[in-house]
Amino acid sequence: MKVLVVGNGGREHAMAWKLGQSRGVEVLITKGNGGTDAVARALPVSPTDIDAVIETARAEGVGLVAIGPEAPLAAGLADRLMAAGIPVFGPVQAAARLESSKAFTHEVLEAAHVPAAGWHVFDHADDALRHVVGCHLPVVVKADGLAAGKGVVVALRREEAIEAVKAFMVDGTLGHAGRRVVIEDFLVGEEASFMVITDGEHILPLAGARDHKRVFDNDMGPNTGGMGAFSPTPLLEGEARDHVLASVIRPTLSELAKRGITYKGVLYAGLMFTAEGPKVLEFNCRFGDPETQPVLVRTKGNLSEVMLACSEGRLDQVRLDIERHPAVCVVLSSAGYPEQPRVGDVIEGLNEASEVEGVHVFHAGTRRLPDGSIVTAGGRVLGVTAVGKSFRETRERAYLAASRIRFAGMHYRSDIGKAARG
Ligand code: AMP
Ligand code: GLY
Repeated sequence: MKVLVVGNGGREHAMAWKLGQSRGVEVLITKGNGGTDAVARALPVSPTDIDAVIETARAEGVGLVAIGPEAPLAAGLADRLMAAGIPVFGPVQAAARLESSKAFTHEVLEAAHVPAAGWHVFDHADDALRHVVGCHLPVVVKADGLAAGKGVVVALRREEAIEAVKAFMVDGTLGHAGRRVVIEDFLVGEEASFMVITDGEHILPLAGARDHKRVFDNDMGPNTGGMGAFSPTPLLEGEARDHVLASVIRPTLSELAKRGITYKGVLYAGLMFTAEGPKVLEFNCRFGDPETQPVLVRTKGNLSEVMLACSEGRLDQVRLDIERHPAVCVVLSSAGYPEQPRVGDVIEGLNEASEVEGVHVFHAGTRRLPDGSIVTAGGRVLGVTAVGKSFRETRERAYLAASRIRFAGMHYRSDIGKAARG
């Protein structure tokens, strides 16, 4: 069977790598990057060109399309593939609204009695400004729509909140995505990312993970797409995990079902573990990036079979197991990331890095030139992912491998997984 992975970042490299372990599966990928050649055949199709993806899937006789990023999901790629009779892993547009509209998510959570931050939604800047002038601080200002990680401002000072509202709603810095704004109470606690695979009825939980969003050590500096991740976290093991399944995941799926929406694919819950218990910060309608890299290296089982079973609503007939050993992914970023990532810098030391025991180097923003050299092509360049017997060994392996890679302007955090226990 041919499986087409849509997307071309680090998450998709990890998906393609894992799918390629299924016997009898040939993996194809839209565009690909400098590292995916080893695991997938690249097709000259843009992940967001819906017509071209469908045409290509048909022409290639693809048996399953696995969608990585949120943009094509929010644009209805899964719906279109289903209409074309092509099996797809990923939610339909109506279900993907859990990521593409924060106001919709809050509505669903409220109806399902799932704990989340207190919230208000605004369509007019004047009303939003009146609210932030009088509210408690800190406060969180969120663009309602998709903003590629740029739509959330945690405002410690009132001026920051006012600026964010003006930027989103008046200046339109995020375009349509920021015309409606959700303002949330600030939650205090420990964060974790919980991904499950679901067909709307049955649920296969993946290992819990923790993302590191800020660009510098000790969570300093601006937000990024994610500078690294580790798995597992005790916040999502055993009874704690069962509690999240029962109090967050199941009621959310049931509420969607009440509305006639069957959620199929990965449901990602960004959670804050507060003194009152876990609360939802956000949902994503897809695998997280970079959480997927450490989570998939810990996942044992046949991913293509699981994805196909998911698309057919028979997830109860398959299983995935989780490796006991921990994993850590350190993201190596390009000069200028996150503000102004520079591209075109030559990357060296990739082979030497991959030789470190327990290490997989997943490519994200990379490109292979005709002469065979690999250059940077985006902000997050590589996800150096390691497994080991303990977090200590795992971190040592990841950082040893990272130290063998060189490109101009390369930077990465030195504290990924430091907070992990075990
Ligand atoms: P997002 O881009 O939606 O993942 O949000 C970025 C980050 O903002 C999250 O990972 C949290 O660290 C933080 N955040 C979002 N909402 C809240 C909230 N209500 N309270 C505290 N922190 C939040
Ligand atoms: N790592 C968070 C995300 O994928 O949005």
